[in-house]
Amino acid sequence: MERPHVVVLTRVPAVVLDRLREHAQVTDVSGQPRDAWGAVLADAVGVLSSSNAPVDAAFLAEAPALRIVAMQSVGYDNVDVAALRARGIVLTNSRGSLVAAVADLTYALIIMAVRRLGLAMAWARSGRWTKGDAPYGHDLAGATLGMVGFGAIGTAVARRAQASGMRVIYHTRAPRDDDAATGGAYRTFEQLLAEADCVVALVPLTPQTRGMFDDAAFALMKPTATFSNAARGAVCDTGALLRALEQSEIAGAALDVTDPEPLPADHPLYAREDVVILPHVGSATDDTRTRMAMLAAENLIAFIHGEPLPTPVAI
Ligand code: DGY
Repeated sequence: MERPHVVVLTRVPAVVLDRLREHAQVTDVSGQPRDAWGAVLADAVGVLSSSNAPVDAAFLAEAPALRIVAMQSVGYDNVDVAALRARGIVLTNSRGSLVAAVADLTYALIIMAVRRLGLAMAWARSGRWTKGDAPYGHDLAGATLGMVGFGAIGTAVARRAQASGMRVIYHTRAPRDDDAATGGAYRTFEQLLAEADCVVALVPLTPQTRGMFDDAAFALMKPTATFSNAARGAVCDTGALLRALEQSEIAGAALDVTDPEPLPADHPLYAREDVVILPHVGSATDDTRTRMAMLAAENLIAFIHGEPLPTPVAI
């Protein structure tokens, strides 16, 4: 029997391609320009995608045989979920495979922002390092971390921050029932913004969260507080963030994600020494990316054999 055709849209390690090839006919288009994919998609039953490879209406129109989209990411905001639902296409993600890596990176953002390490690095690089007069940051111990989004990754960030002596408050759609276990305390969004010394975005991008960090949100923050984003760039209005920094409404920012992404090299945020910008590397370790890609492959393989999917997304 002919094996189903699976198209890999995003860079995955060779070991993952080998594993998929045991069960499917595989075409890897990850290195090819988007406009070269068309013919390959025509008979694709499954695709392995990521947040870098949109599965939108135009894509779906080119893939009439598609039955499963397996994401090598937790987020799937670049997938046209309504179109998938309408066509009965299954969606899976890679939740659980990247918690530690993203929590570590988010903790790094917190430390960079609170200790003002972007400013310190600029100080050293620009020849201003003459004696012990580099700018001071603030202690993590005793500071209040405000987590906006408090799922598996958020609570893992909290554990790291608590090890540094930070107090943790969080905002989610509804208060969690395990505050005693997480050590976090629920706040409304507005309360959290007003109280936290370090605000961290870790919410999925949805119509409700898009642009939630806007002018009004930054105006509520303390002028000494910092903002970090490890979620999706578009939960923050980039213009509002820039204005808040320019007007000293907040003290600095450390971002792993931006809107747009990539952020153009001449964007004014890069020129600011109180801002650290990373190129969306939250899960970018060899080990974690391999685990994420392998989980996506295992979802495809389970689907091919009609077995229960490891990490389906209810859509
Ligand atoms: C995710 O898994 O959603 C990460 O942001 C990587 O894209």
